[in-house]
Amino acid sequence: MLDLFYRLARPLLFKLDAETAHEFVFRGLPLVPWLVRGRRPAPSLRVRIAGLDWGGPVGLAAGLDKNGVGIPAWAALGFGAIEVGTVTRHAQPGNPRPRLFRLAAEGGLINRMGFNNGGAVALAANLGRLRDAGGWPSVPVGANLGKSKVTPNESAVDDYLHSVSVLRGKADYFVVNVSSPNTPGLRELQEREPLTRLLGAVVPAAQRTPVFLKLAPDLEDDALLTAVDVALDNGCAGIIATNTTISRPGTSGRLEQFGGLSGGPLRPLARAKIAAVLAAVGGRAPVIGVGGVATAADVRDYLTMGCAAVQLYSSFIFGGPGLPSRIHAELASAAP
Ligand SMILES: Cc1cc2nc3c(=O)[nH]c(=O)nc-3n(C[C@H](O)[C@H](O)[C@H](O)COP(=O)(O)O)c2cc1C
Repeated sequence: MLDLFYRLARPLLFKLDAETAHEFVFRGLPLVPWLVRGRRPAPSLRVRIAGLDWGGPVGLAAGLDKNGVGIPAWAALGFGAIEVGTVTRHAQPGNPRPRLFRLAAEGGLINRMGFNNGGAVALAANLGRLRDAGGWPSVPVGANLGKSKVTPNESAVDDYLHSVSVLRGKADYFVVNVSSPNTPGLRELQEREPLTRLLGAVVPAAQRTPVFLKLAPDLEDDALLTAVDVALDNGCAGIIATNTTISRPGTSGRLEQFGGLSGGPLRPLARAKIAAVLAAVGGRAPVIGVGGVATAADVRDYLTMGCAAVQLYSSFIFGGPGLPSRIHAELASAAP
């Protein structure tokens, strides 16, 4: 029923500006758990990552639900895990609109949202309300943390620590995001010294909550190696690779110049960088593969490479609400 509705509504939604369509869809999210039932992945697909039981290997990537307002809907649609955020210490409006663009032919998106979010305190309140109401899903919910635009890089550690302190005990895992391209200077925090200072503070502050590091596909392989070593030396539970790219591979025509590219055109680059991350990690920790995942074959490919699980965002926009459960069903039917 929901899938049929999406198929009918999609041509209209795609006529709207991408962010307007997003806002329209979000208004309907409270209805989703009533409209769909029983989309839990088959038990054979469960994966354990950093002590957390993913319902299946396909998780929702960060950025779709910045403020954690749709968690019951994402769980009902069958995602194996849900990452909310990025949130920052300070609520902020993000960049001026338009800031989200579809590349419909390639199944890609370009965004320069700039961490529009209600702040860590508001996310903590949303998560707390869900827990108190008994609505916490049976799959893990991670909180992805970034730096506020007003905070200079020298004070980045305090900014992240503030978010950790208000969200500790509320989220099942944390992600330190130093890889979004739309906050000036953020990606410099991927370098050895600043990253050591940041993770050296955040991981102990998170206490028993596992902390993942999310990396950019625009890093050279040696820089990825350094970041992975710093992450694992400082107690990170795993790596998430990759975020969007500032490059424009596999695209044609006049494109938005500023912003991160995701979806189909990102996949070859993300795949190469995931391979580099897997080599650097060398089996010491789980790697979650992100970038251009749209089919069960894509998931199988990343898992065969050595990823513990995958996440997706862009293909969900093009494939609709049935995508995660379709992929999980196909994986389960092919499982030995
Ligand atoms: C509109 C949009 C907003 C995003 N916002 C965030 C974000 O806030 N934090 C983050 O870590 N990644 C963010 N991402 C990146 C995704 O989580 C993911 O890493 C990237 O899109 C690659 O996956 P995909 O090809 O499946 O979309 C965003 C992506 C898109 C398209």
